[in-house]
Amino acid sequence: MTDPLFDLSDRVAVVTGGMGQLGRVYAAGLAERGMRVASFDVASGETPGGVRAYEADITDRSAIERALGEIEADWGTPHVLVNNAGLDSPPDAPVEEVGSFEDFPEAAFDAVMDVNVKGTLLCCQVIGGAMARAGRGSIVNIGSVYGLLSPVQDLYAFRREAGETFVKPVAYSVSKSAILNLTRYLATYWAKAGVRVNTLTLAGVANDQPAEFLEAYTARVPMGRMLDADEALGALVFLASDASSYITGSNVVVDGGWSAW
Ligand SMILES: NC(=O)c1ccc[n+]([C@@H]2O[C@H](COP(=O)([O-])OP(=O)(O)OC[C@H]3O[C@@H](n4cnc5c(N)ncnc54)[C@H](O)[C@@H]3O)[C@@H](O)[C@H]2O)c1
Repeated sequence: MTDPLFDLSDRVAVVTGGMGQLGRVYAAGLAERGMRVASFDVASGETPGGVRAYEADITDRSAIERALGEIEADWGTPHVLVNNAGLDSPPDAPVEEVGSFEDFPEAAFDAVMDVNVKGTLLCCQVIGGAMARAGRGSIVNIGSVYGLLSPVQDLYAFRREAGETFVKPVAYSVSKSAILNLTRYLATYWAKAGVRVNTLTLAGVANDQPAEFLEAYTARVPMGRMLDADEALGALVFLASDASSYITGSNVVVDGGWSAW
């Protein structure tokens, strides 16, 4: 029996970045709970049952509008939007992107801001706007502890000790802190239109990171381990469903206690 508080069946969700590590978990998890799920991604691939893939670049407003048009024709106006697509500097990022703050390239800053901030904004404008016209909806913007607090540069000391120049870059942190106030702005803007907007802030997800990083990172986490991707789903279902009907403009932090000390 499904608890009516958390019941999402027959509702429609859009998950951006639905082909990525966490996006796949969200899309599959929402579909398993009876939702019809549209994944928006620039990458393609297989999707689980109940998930339909749209090759939509979230920095392109017309692509979002086209995909939404198809979804509305087939399934109706989405009830849930998960703004999950995001760029971070990969471990093998070019050397100039992981060098000093003073020399961080403008183009790299623009690329991260374009997807993480402008892409989220455009999805909120187009899909959130449709939700507001329908008079209901829940938007979950995915944040990071690195948008709440500064990255701990000491976690990357092992790379510097191995002879590399490595500074965790600034752009990702700036982009994820922008998400917190985009959330608050829209929560108040749409409060009376029935659209709730919240941030879901996550700490680092386990993903075969190098042993030295794992050791340094988990020593910093009160719970002593990284987040398992599946553990982000519970908070997402809560924020997506009527269980959180009076929660808007908030930030749910799933970080194993990272921000508690
Ligand atoms: N993995 C972590 O440790 C972690 C921690 C905190 C927060 N997050 C956040 O969770 C979200 C997902 O992270 P992930 O680890 O699954 O990343 P990921 O790189 O595995 O997935 C991101 C997805 O977004 C897609 N994407 C990128 N640019 C796009 C665009 N312009 N339009 C549409 N899709 C685009 C990518 O193709 C990819 O499939 C991100 O917002 C990330 O910042 C991740």
